[in-house]
Amino acid sequence: MKDKFYGTILQSEALAKYLLETSAYPREHEQLKELRAATVEKYQYWSLMNVSADEGQFISMLLKIMNAKKTIEVGVFTGYSLLVTALALPDDGKIIAIDPDREAYETGLPFIQKANMTHKIQFMQSDAMTVMDDFLAQGEKGTFDFAFVDADKENYINYHEQLLQLVKVGGIIAYDNTLWAGTVVAEEDDEMEDYLRGCRGHVIKLNTFLAEDPRIELAHLSIGDGLTLCKRLK
Ligand SMILES: C[S@@+](CC[C@H](N)C(=O)[O-])C[C@H]1O[C@@H](n2cnc3c(N)ncnc32)[C@H](O)[C@@H]1O
Repeated sequence: MKDKFYGTILQSEALAKYLLETSAYPREHEQLKELRAATVEKYQYWSLMNVSADEGQFISMLLKIMNAKKTIEVGVFTGYSLLVTALALPDDGKIIAIDPDREAYETGLPFIQKANMTHKIQFMQSDAMTVMDDFLAQGEKGTFDFAFVDADKENYINYHEQLLQLVKVGGIIAYDNTLWAGTVVAEEDDEMEDYLRGCRGHVIKLNTFLAEDPRIELAHLSIGDGLTLCKRLK
Protein backbone atom coordinates (compact mmCIF):
# COMPACT_ATOMS: atom_id res chain seq x y z
CA MET A 1 0.00 0.00 0.00
CA LYS A 2 2.81 2.39 0.98
CA ASP A 3 4.33 2.52 -2.51
CA LYS A 4 0.93 3.14 -4.03
CA PHE A 5 -0.04 6.13 -1.90
CA TYR A 6 0.98 9.51 -3.26
CA GLY A 7 -1.59 11.70 -1.52
CA THR A 8 -3.92 11.12 -4.45
CA ILE A 9 -6.71 8.68 -4.96
CA LEU A 10 -5.77 8.21 -8.63
CA GLN A 11 -4.61 4.63 -9.07
CA SER A 12 -2.35 5.38 -12.03
CA GLU A 13 0.92 7.03 -11.03
CA ALA A 14 1.28 8.37 -14.57
CA LEU A 15 -2.11 10.07 -14.39
CA ALA A 16 -1.38 11.60 -10.98
CA LYS A 17 1.95 12.90 -12.32
CA TYR A 18 0.26 14.24 -15.44
CA LEU A 19 -2.37 16.11 -13.42
CA LEU A 20 0.18 17.65 -11.07
CA GLU A 21 2.78 18.52 -13.69
CA THR A 22 0.34 19.86 -16.29
CA SER A 23 -2.11 21.85 -14.22
CA ALA A 24 -1.06 22.15 -10.59
CA TYR A 25 2.69 22.65 -10.19
CA PRO A 26 3.05 25.34 -12.90
CA ARG A 27 0.53 27.53 -11.04
CA GLU A 28 1.57 26.69 -7.48
CA HIS A 29 2.55 29.76 -5.44
CA GLU A 30 6.31 29.99 -4.86
CA GLN A 31 5.97 29.79 -1.05
CA LEU A 32 3.67 26.78 -1.32
CA LYS A 33 6.40 25.04 -3.32
CA GLU A 34 8.98 26.03 -0.72
CA LEU A 35 6.79 24.92 2.18
CA ARG A 36 6.21 21.55 0.53
CA ALA A 37 9.93 21.08 -0.12
CA ALA A 38 10.81 21.96 3.50
CA THR A 39 8.17 19.50 4.69
CA VAL A 40 9.59 16.71 2.53
CA GLU A 41 13.08 17.47 3.82
CA LYS A 42 12.04 17.33 7.48
CA TYR A 43 9.23 14.78 7.51
CA GLN A 44 10.17 12.54 4.56
CA TYR A 45 7.41 9.93 4.09
CA TRP A 46 4.96 11.79 6.36
CA SER A 47 5.14 14.85 4.14
CA LEU A 48 2.26 13.11 2.36
CA MET A 49 0.10 14.69 5.08
CA ASN A 50 0.21 18.01 3.16
CA VAL A 51 -2.78 18.27 0.84
CA SER A 52 -1.87 17.72 -2.81
CA ALA A 53 -1.27 20.73 -5.06
CA ASP A 54 -4.38 20.02 -7.19
CA GLU A 55 -6.55 19.78 -4.07
CA GLY A 56 -5.00 23.04 -2.87
CA GLN A 57 -6.01 24.69 -6.16
CA PHE A 58 -9.55 23.41 -5.74
CA ILE A 59 -9.84 24.70 -2.15
CA SER A 60 -8.46 28.07 -3.24
CA MET A 61 -11.01 28.43 -6.03
CA LEU A 62 -13.85 27.33 -3.77
CA LEU A 63 -12.93 29.91 -1.11
CA LYS A 64 -12.83 32.66 -3.73
CA ILE A 65 -16.18 31.64 -5.28
CA MET A 66 -17.71 31.67 -1.79
CA ASN A 67 -16.13 35.03 -0.90
CA ALA A 68 -15.04 33.36 2.33
CA LYS A 69 -13.63 35.72 4.95
CA LYS A 70 -13.49 33.76 8.19
CA THR A 71 -12.41 30.12 8.30
CA ILE A 72 -11.35 27.47 10.78
CA GLU A 73 -8.70 24.85 10.09
CA VAL A 74 -8.55 21.65 12.18
CA GLY A 75 -5.16 19.99 11.66
CA VAL A 76 -2.43 22.34 10.43
CA PHE A 77 0.76 20.22 10.32
CA THR A 78 3.29 22.36 8.36
CA GLY A 79 0.52 24.50 6.93
CA TYR A 80 0.11 23.71 3.24
CA SER A 81 -3.70 23.97 3.28
CA LEU A 82 -3.36 26.86 5.74
CA LEU A 83 -1.20 28.88 3.34
CA VAL A 84 -3.52 27.95 0.44
CA THR A 85 -6.41 29.35 2.49
CA ALA A 86 -4.56 32.48 3.58
CA LEU A 87 -3.60 33.27 -0.01
CA ALA A 88 -7.23 32.87 -1.12
CA LEU A 89 -8.83 35.07 1.56
CA PRO A 90 -9.09 38.86 1.28
CA ASP A 91 -6.57 41.00 3.14
CA ASP A 92 -8.90 41.33 6.14
CA GLY A 93 -9.67 37.59 6.16
CA LYS A 94 -9.12 35.51 9.30
CA ILE A 95 -8.21 31.86 9.87
CA ILE A 96 -8.33 30.08 13.21
CA ALA A 97 -5.73 27.33 12.79
CA ILE A 98 -5.69 24.59 15.44
CA ASP A 99 -3.07 21.89 16.02
CA PRO A 100 -1.32 20.61 19.16
CA ASP A 101 1.91 20.29 17.13
CA ARG A 102 3.61 23.70 17.19
CA GLU A 103 6.88 22.34 15.84
CA ALA A 104 5.23 21.28 12.58
CA TYR A 105 3.49 24.67 12.27
CA GLU A 106 6.82 26.45 12.84
CA THR A 107 8.41 24.37 10.07
CA GLY A 108 6.07 26.01 7.57
CA LEU A 109 5.88 29.41 9.26
CA PRO A 110 8.89 31.01 7.49
CA PHE A 111 7.11 30.49 4.16
CA ILE A 112 3.83 31.89 5.49
CA GLN A 113 5.82 34.93 6.68
CA LYS A 114 7.62 35.27 3.34
CA ALA A 115 4.21 35.23 1.60
CA ASN A 116 3.05 38.06 3.96
CA MET A 117 0.11 36.05 5.24
CA THR A 118 0.66 35.91 9.01
CA HIS A 119 -1.80 38.75 9.76
CA LYS A 120 -4.68 36.51 8.62
CA ILE A 121 -3.73 33.57 10.87
CA GLN A 122 -4.38 32.88 14.53
CA PHE A 123 -2.57 29.65 15.39
CA MET A 124 -3.89 27.87 18.48
CA GLN A 125 -1.73 25.12 19.94
CA SER A 126 -4.45 22.84 21.22
CA ASP A 127 -6.71 19.94 20.44
CA ALA A 128 -9.56 21.14 18.28
CA MET A 129 -12.40 19.94 20.46
CA THR A 130 -11.42 22.25 23.35
CA VAL A 131 -11.04 25.31 21.13
CA MET A 132 -14.35 24.71 19.39
CA ASP A 133 -16.18 24.17 22.70
CA ASP A 134 -14.72 27.47 23.93
CA PHE A 135 -15.79 29.25 20.73
CA LEU A 136 -19.32 27.90 21.09
CA ALA A 137 -19.44 29.15 24.68
CA GLN A 138 -18.07 32.56 23.61
CA GLY A 139 -20.84 33.31 21.10
CA GLU A 140 -19.03 32.34 17.89
CA LYS A 141 -22.00 30.32 16.59
CA GLY A 142 -22.67 30.83 12.89
CA THR A 143 -19.68 33.12 12.35
CA PHE A 144 -17.45 30.96 10.11
CA ASP A 145 -17.80 30.75 6.32
CA PHE A 146 -15.66 27.67 5.85
CA ALA A 147 -14.05 24.88 7.87
CA PHE A 148 -11.30 22.53 6.71
CA VAL A 149 -10.87 19.36 8.76
CA ASP A 150 -7.69 17.36 8.23
CA ALA A 151 -6.83 15.84 11.62
CA ASP A 152 -7.67 12.87 13.88
CA LYS A 153 -10.16 10.80 11.90
CA GLU A 154 -11.75 9.26 15.00
CA ASN A 155 -13.11 12.67 15.96
CA TYR A 156 -14.53 13.85 12.63
CA ILE A 157 -18.11 12.98 13.63
CA ASN A 158 -17.69 14.92 16.89
CA TYR A 159 -16.19 17.87 14.98
CA HIS A 160 -19.17 17.73 12.65
CA GLU A 161 -21.58 18.49 15.50
CA GLN A 162 -19.47 21.43 16.67
CA LEU A 163 -18.83 22.78 13.17
CA LEU A 164 -22.51 22.61 12.20
CA GLN A 165 -22.97 25.24 14.90
CA LEU A 166 -19.86 27.31 14.22
CA VAL A 167 -20.27 27.50 10.44
CA LYS A 168 -23.08 29.74 9.17
CA VAL A 169 -26.09 28.40 7.27
CA GLY A 170 -24.89 28.16 3.66
CA GLY A 171 -21.27 27.75 4.80
CA ILE A 172 -19.06 24.78 3.94
CA ILE A 173 -17.39 22.14 6.11
CA ALA A 174 -14.76 20.20 4.15
CA TYR A 175 -13.42 16.85 5.41
CA ASP A 176 -10.15 15.59 3.98
CA ASN A 177 -8.99 12.00 3.37
CA THR A 178 -12.50 10.61 3.02
CA LEU A 179 -11.40 7.91 0.55
CA TRP A 180 -8.43 7.03 2.80
CA ALA A 181 -6.04 5.81 0.09
CA GLY A 182 -8.80 3.62 -1.32
CA THR A 183 -8.99 1.48 1.83
CA VAL A 184 -12.67 2.34 2.34
CA VAL A 185 -13.35 -0.49 -0.14
CA ALA A 186 -10.55 -2.85 0.99
CA GLU A 187 -11.20 -6.29 2.47
CA GLU A 188 -10.28 -6.68 6.15
CA ASP A 189 -7.39 -9.06 5.33
CA ASP A 190 -5.95 -6.91 2.51
CA GLU A 191 -2.39 -5.76 3.02
CA MET A 192 -2.16 -2.12 4.11
CA GLU A 193 -0.12 0.22 6.30
CA ASP A 194 -1.03 0.15 10.01
CA TYR A 195 -2.09 3.83 10.00
CA LEU A 196 -4.50 3.12 7.16
CA ARG A 197 -5.96 0.06 8.89
CA GLY A 198 -6.22 1.97 12.18
CA CYS A 199 -8.47 4.71 10.84
CA ARG A 200 -10.33 3.22 7.91
CA GLY A 201 -13.25 2.15 10.11
CA HIS A 202 -13.66 5.75 11.31
CA VAL A 203 -13.61 7.07 7.74
CA ILE A 204 -16.18 4.49 6.57
CA LYS A 205 -18.43 5.37 9.53
CA LEU A 206 -18.09 9.09 8.79
CA ASN A 207 -18.96 8.62 5.10
CA THR A 208 -22.14 6.68 5.96
CA PHE A 209 -23.06 9.21 8.63
CA LEU A 210 -22.62 12.22 6.34
CA ALA A 211 -24.50 10.55 3.48
CA GLU A 212 -27.53 10.25 5.78
CA ASP A 213 -27.30 13.67 7.47
CA PRO A 214 -30.31 15.81 6.41
CA ARG A 215 -28.72 18.98 7.84
CA ILE A 216 -26.25 19.21 4.96
CA GLU A 217 -26.00 19.13 1.20
CA LEU A 218 -23.12 16.79 0.33
CA ALA A 219 -20.55 16.34 -2.42
CA HIS A 220 -17.96 13.56 -2.00
CA LEU A 221 -15.09 14.33 -4.34
CA SER A 222 -12.36 12.01 -5.61
CA ILE A 223 -9.67 14.69 -5.46
CA GLY A 224 -6.49 14.33 -3.43
CA ASP A 225 -7.20 11.52 -0.98
CA GLY A 226 -10.95 12.18 -1.10
CA LEU A 227 -12.60 15.42 0.00
CA THR A 228 -16.17 15.69 1.28
CA LEU A 229 -17.91 19.04 1.10
CA CYS A 230 -20.87 19.61 3.41
CA LYS A 231 -23.00 22.72 2.94
CA ARG A 232 -24.94 23.61 6.07
CA LEU A 233 -28.64 23.74 5.22
CA LYS A 234 -30.19 24.64 8.57
C1 LIG B 1 -2.81 15.48 7.83
S1 LIG B 1 -2.08 16.60 8.94
C2 LIG B 1 -2.72 18.16 8.39
C3 LIG B 1 -2.12 18.59 7.07
C4 LIG B 1 -2.43 20.00 6.64
N1 LIG B 1 -3.85 20.21 6.44
C5 LIG B 1 -1.67 20.35 5.39
O1 LIG B 1 -2.27 20.41 4.30
O2 LIG B 1 -0.45 20.55 5.51
C6 LIG B 1 -2.95 16.25 10.42
C7 LIG B 1 -2.65 17.16 11.61
O3 LIG B 1 -3.70 16.99 12.56
C8 LIG B 1 -3.17 17.27 13.83
N2 LIG B 1 -4.07 16.77 14.87
C9 LIG B 1 -4.15 15.51 15.39
N3 LIG B 1 -5.04 15.47 16.37
C10 LIG B 1 -5.57 16.72 16.48
C11 LIG B 1 -6.54 17.32 17.32
N4 LIG B 1 -7.17 16.61 18.26
N5 LIG B 1 -6.83 18.64 17.15
C12 LIG B 1 -6.19 19.37 16.20
N6 LIG B 1 -5.25 18.85 15.38
C13 LIG B 1 -4.94 17.55 15.52
C14 LIG B 1 -1.81 16.58 13.80
O4 LIG B 1 -0.96 17.11 14.80
C15 LIG B 1 -1.35 16.85 12.37
O5 LIG B 1 -0.48 17.96 12.33
